[in-house]
Amino acid sequence: MEREKALEIVKVQLTEHRYQHTLGVMETAIELAKRFHADEKKAETAAIFHDYAKFRPKDEMKQIIIDQQFPQDLLIHNTELWHAPVGAYLVKSEVGIDDDEILDAIRYHTSGREKMTLLEKIIFVADYIEPGRHFPGVEEVREVARKDLDTALIYSLRNTIIFLAKRNQAIYPDTIKTYNSLLIEKKGESKGE
Ligand SMILES: [Fe+2]
Ligand SMILES: [Fe+2]
Repeated sequence: MEREKALEIVKVQLTEHRYQHTLGVMETAIELAKRFHADEKKAETAAIFHDYAKFRPKDEMKQIIIDQQFPQDLLIHNTELWHAPVGAYLVKSEVGIDDDEILDAIRYHTSGREKMTLLEKIIFVADYIEPGRHFPGVEEVREVARKDLDTALIYSLRNTIIFLAKRNQAIYPDTIKTYNSLLIEKKGESKGE
């Protein structure tokens, strides 16, 4: 889909602030796709639509999670997680995007998952480091992302886990699993050197 058309579709779903964030994620995702040799067009489309469902009513999202038999443990965790799988579903059913790589990048952009694809990693990290983000630790992740996408992802996950833990908030199991699997993979690699 043409960039202008995609942006037009997503703009009416978002607040101005979230739309600006989306533009930042788009630019960053394209940059990362170039750097790490992913499909730039898919990165662009996934980035544009990643927060498509962000402002859907909670009741609507909950119903979709139940009806579509998405992981039901989502319902007992932070509602902030819901817009990712629900977004993947709505981007397919309402916008007509049916590329599974793009849809999975949207689906896992908040929780992560074990064995993330390159495109999934790019959208996750782009969402975390886009230029509009200003929180402690983000500059370090931006720096690392210039060379090493997996380490940037590990740092983003680590920061998110610490942020939630400090606020006595539960951490979604897939987020921990993603963090652990990447670390273990990395340790395996460095042992093999
Ligand atoms: Fe999001
Ligand atoms: Fe986002």
